[in-house]
Formats: sequence, structure tokens, C-alpha cells
Amino acid sequence: MISKQTIDKIFSTIRVEEIVGEYVQLKRAGSNFKGLSPFHDEKSPSFIVSPSKQIWKDFSTGKGGTAISFLMEIENFTYPEALRHAAKKYGIEIEEDQREFSEEAKNAQSERDLLYKIHEVANNYYQSFLWENEEGKAIGLSYFKERELKDDIIKKFQLGYSPEKKNAFTEFALEKGYSKEILEKSGLSIFPENAPNGIDRFRERVIFPIHSFSGRVLGFGARILKNNVKTAKYLNSPETEIYHKSNVLYGLNQSKQAISRKNACLLVEGYMDVISLHMSGIENVVASSGTSLTTEQIKLIKRLTENVTILFDGDNAGIKASFRSIDMLLSEGMNIRVLLFPDGDDPDSFARKHPQEYVEKFIENQAMDFIDFKAEILLKEVGNDPIKKAEAIRDIVKSVGFVKNALKREVYLKEVSNKFGLSEQSLFNELDVQKQIIQNQNQHSQQQKESTPVKMEVVPLDEEKSDPFLYDVLFMENKLVDHMLMFGDVVLKRFDEKNGDYQITVIEEILNHFEEEQYQFLVESNEIIINQIKEGIQKEELRSGKFFVTFMDEEITSKVVDALIPLDDLENWASRNIYPPNYGDKVAEQIKGDVLLHKYRYIDYLIKETAKELGNVDEVKYYELIQKISLLKQASIRLSNIIEYSPIKGIYGDRMR
Ligand code: UTP
Ligand code: MN
Repeated sequence: MISKQTIDKIFSTIRVEEIVGEYVQLKRAGSNFKGLSPFHDEKSPSFIVSPSKQIWKDFSTGKGGTAISFLMEIENFTYPEALRHAAKKYGIEIEEDQREFSEEAKNAQSERDLLYKIHEVANNYYQSFLWENEEGKAIGLSYFKERELKDDIIKKFQLGYSPEKKNAFTEFALEKGYSKEILEKSGLSIFPENAPNGIDRFRERVIFPIHSFSGRVLGFGARILKNNVKTAKYLNSPETEIYHKSNVLYGLNQSKQAISRKNACLLVEGYMDVISLHMSGIENVVASSGTSLTTEQIKLIKRLTENVTILFDGDNAGIKASFRSIDMLLSEGMNIRVLLFPDGDDPDSFARKHPQEYVEKFIENQAMDFIDFKAEILLKEVGNDPIKKAEAIRDIVKSVGFVKNALKREVYLKEVSNKFGLSEQSLFNELDVQKQIIQNQNQHSQQQKESTPVKMEVVPLDEEKSDPFLYDVLFMENKLVDHMLMFGDVVLKRFDEKNGDYQITVIEEILNHFEEEQYQFLVESNEIIINQIKEGIQKEELRSGKFFVTFMDEEITSKVVDALIPLDDLENWASRNIYPPNYGDKVAEQIKGDVLLHKYRYIDYLIKETAKELGNVDEVKYYELIQKISLLKQASIRLSNIIEYSPIKGIYGDRMR
């Protein structure tokens, strides 16, 4: 593992603007740099890099962090992988720390490295076999030629050929020094007892390497050459330490730029569909590779675009698969259209039959929104049977129910209502019934959630909205923590009866407030930050924003970056619902006011929470609670008077409730 000294050295050497600059075109904007978000298709730049703070922030997706977290985000690196990558770029020698980590952890890391390496070796092996070996050329390359693939596209997708000989690759890899163990773990070889020299998993097949987002080979798909043989047409790598089928989309590496540029993604079933579409110039396409689409896969697409068109062949399996995918995509907030190819065509055959422009137009014009699509398929079977028709409509409404955005949901329901001449109200009712069913199904897990205390990592928006008291406390809690991160070391001049004139840092003042109230944090990451700050104070160090920036917890880093990034350089921030804090030289007053306001809202929240308990307690407890509420109410009134007559009120204006 990488030593702490090396990590410090990496962080002090690397420049976020240089690392990000390799992926994003950055322009100077005041003391910062600005560019187009690499995670989202946009026209006006909302991606900010601060060289002085060594952090970045993407306002279109809310992501942010250090140069290292940028690498993790864009390359799908793990933390150590990103560190190693950065070290290499800056010529920093990595000192390995052997002590802290268990033998097991060390082995796991080097095993991952070895698995990546062996896949790279295999990928080169299969490719050179295809291009340079007589067998490869005669069988593999001529197969691809038969399917009309051009040389450059074969190279672009790094297609290869695995020879007929039983253990050709295994032998090659063993000679290069790879162990039987790692070969077996990679899924590329097996070593049964009766074949101690090993057997290649892929033999006499053409090879399709499967790449990660950043282009590393994770596994292979391998197609048989003869169509009438009784074994599976495609043999794929098994799940390994580095290949998790459900997290990978075939073609994403080759298509990511086109997807982001066109702000649209075509989703197909097969390897060959992706490749043929690329060959005809349509490059924004990925394949789910025969498995049904997963949430993880959708999230990979969502980094690039929210618009997906599903292209499936019109057979029954294709339709069933598309129904499931539709609901999954809708519940991830994607906009979808669906296209079924006619007459036994699939995207591959269709793309080879027609010129690029025709295919593009065809997709553009023939793809239906999901309502029309489901209606067409479902109503075909219905005929004049009213019960079956109702069932079909119910099926469509169920899909609408997966749409999380209320506005979109309503638009879709309107469409269904127009299409079938039904009242919107009855459709809304149906939607409610569906919701009820889903809720009942989830009830068990819900009950578990409710029994845990009010601590939450992310409060769902609905809950915040439905409970304004909770929302208000949360808001102020976050704000106070932001103050500590941003101005932690600012020294405030204070006066009170007990101490007279005294000085105190922002960190200490806010910390004192939390302790006095015995405040229970509502957001876990805030609690973690506060505990770190307290630990710092014991060691006589003031832990403010900079300290946490290199703290490797995604949620915390992004919170800290949010607090630190200067907003004034961002154009149009108001349209994005981002408002810069109005500190100026009013830090001292702002902090004082926010502490009071937090206290005030916390008390209101406690009153409400305590009142909730009244319903189901015995008499003794009941009067205890009533007394508690009355004390809290008095405190609340006292506080509101202080706030009313204090100069801080001016800062808040009508934001006071
Ligand atoms: P298809 O049969 O549509 O494959 O299966 P294809 O890519 O169009 O292949 P060609 O045109 O016959 O050469 C779709 C996908 O399902 C997976 C593969 O990922 C394939 O690309 N599949 C299919 C398997 O994994 N195993 C199989 O036996 C069949
Ligand atoms: Mn096909």
C-alpha cells in the first residue's frame, strides 16, 4: 500500500488544473478556471476549478473534490489507483508501506493489478493471432470479413481470435510467468485434474474484449464461428474480481464521447449491433450484452446523458426485455424512446443494409415514446375485449408510476388520457392504487427504517418538504458546519457578562453551541466532521476546510468542496438555484445569528417531536412530556425576542419565520 508520506507528497505536488485540464478545456475566469462539465452535456460552463484551493466543482451534477477524486470519478479508479496514476504523471516514486495493512489486503490489491495485466496480455495475444497467424487470418479474420467489418473497425474494437489448440493461451501466459492461480481466477484458463497443462476457456472463437469506461479490458465475449453447433453462441468471461457484468456496458468506452456530444444514447442488445452502428458512423451506442439492464448500467449512461433510445429486434424476447428496461430507465429519471426493427432485422443487419443518413432518420422518425410503444404492443393482442383493454392500460399506467418527477408524470398521464379517451382523474386513481401496492410490498423494509433513530445520511426530499421543522433544522445544521469549514480559524471578538472581552475562533464558538445544546446531528457526515474537529482540538490543531479536502470520504469531500468553492465567479448561478453566501466582512455577526437561529429552530423541532410522543405514553410520562414542551416553548419565546431585538435581524430580513 502507498505510504502516508507518499500520499502527502502526491497531494502537495499535483495540480488540479493540470489533471482536470487533460479532460476538460479550461478557461481562466478570475482566480479560477471554468469549463464544460465532463459529466454532463451542457452549453454554458458550470464546471469550476480553483487552483488556489486545489479543488473542483461541477455545478451541473453537484460533484466536486480534489484532483484525485476527479480521477476516480472520470476514470472509475479506486482511491489507490488514482493516486498511482497521478504519481506516475508527476514522476513521484511510490513508497510502499508494508506495516499497516494485512497480508490479505495487500494480496487483494496486487491480485486486482495482476488480473488487469493478464487481460491486457490476453487482449494483445488474441489480436495478434487474428492479424498475424495463418489460422487466425484464415478463420477469424475471414469471418469478420464475411460480416463485412472493415479493418479499422476491427482494430477500433480490438477484436481478436482464439486458436483451436486446447491450451494455446494458457501455455503462452504460463511461459510469461503468470501463475496457474491467477489464470484460473481471471477465467481465461481452467486446470482440471486430467489436464494439468490447463485448457483455454476461449477456443476457436472470435473475441470481443469488454472494456471499462476508461478503456481497460475487464473480460471477453467470444463468438462461435459455425452457426449449427450445439454450444452457446457466445461464451463470456465469468464474474471476476475486476469484471462485474451488471456494472459494465459493452461499447461505452468507444461511444462515450459521441453519447455526450449528441446528448443521447442508443441502447442495443448485442456486441455486433454496437460495432455495425459504429461502422456506419453512428457512434453513440452501447449494449447491455444480453443481460437485462441493471441500475448500475443506467447510472453509467446517466453520467453522459438522460436520453435513451432502446433499439431491439422485434421478436418476443426483445419486447419482454424492453418492457423491463423501460420501467428501470423511467425510475432512474431517464427520458426514453423505443424502436423495434421490422421484418427480423436487428440493428446490425439494418445498419449494414442502409446508409448512415437513412438509419439516423429511421431511428429519429420511428422511435416511439414509451406510452405509444407499450400501447401498440399491448393493444395488438387485446382486440375488442374491454377487460383486456383495461388491463393493458393499467400496465401502461404502471410504467408511468415509475417516473419520479411529478411534473413529467402528469404530462404522461395526460397523454394516456388523451390516447384512450379516459378521464385524468380515473388514471390518477389507478396510479394511487398502484402506488399502494408497491408500498405494501415495501412495507417490511419501511418498518425497519422507522425503528432506527432520526439519523439519516441523505434526507429524502419528500420527507424534508413534508416536515418543514426538520428541513429548517437541517438547513441551519448544514450552514453552521459550512461556517466551520470555511472560516474555522477566523478569530471573533466577543463580550459577555461572565467573561468580559474575549477572543474565540469560529470553530470553538460553534462547537460550544453544539455541546451546550447536546445537539444530536441529523446528518451523519456532519457528525463525522465535528468529531474530527474535536479530535483536532485535543491535538491542538485547527481542522478547517483544507484538512477535510484530502479526507477520503466521498460525501464529506463533496460537502467541504461545496463550502469552499467561491461562487461569485459562476455566471448564472441564480438560475441554477445556487445562492452565494452574503458574508462580506460580516462573519462575526453572521455566525452569531446563525447559531441563534439554529438553536431557535432546533427547539421548535424538539417541541414538535415531543408532541408526537404524547399520543402513546402512560400518564406519568404524559405530564413529563407536557412539562418539557412548556419549558421548550418558553425558551423558544425568549429566543425569538433576542432575535427580534438583535442587530443580526437585518442580515436575515424576511427569511426569518
Ligand atoms: P444476439 O444473439 O442478438 O447477438 O445476442 P449478436 O451480438 O447480435 O450476435 P450475432 O449477430 O449473432 O453475431 C445479444 C447478446 O447477448 C449475449 C451477447 O452479449 C450478445 O451480443 N449472448 C447471446 C450471450 O452472452 N450468449 C449467447 O449464447 C447469446
Ligand atoms: Mn445479431
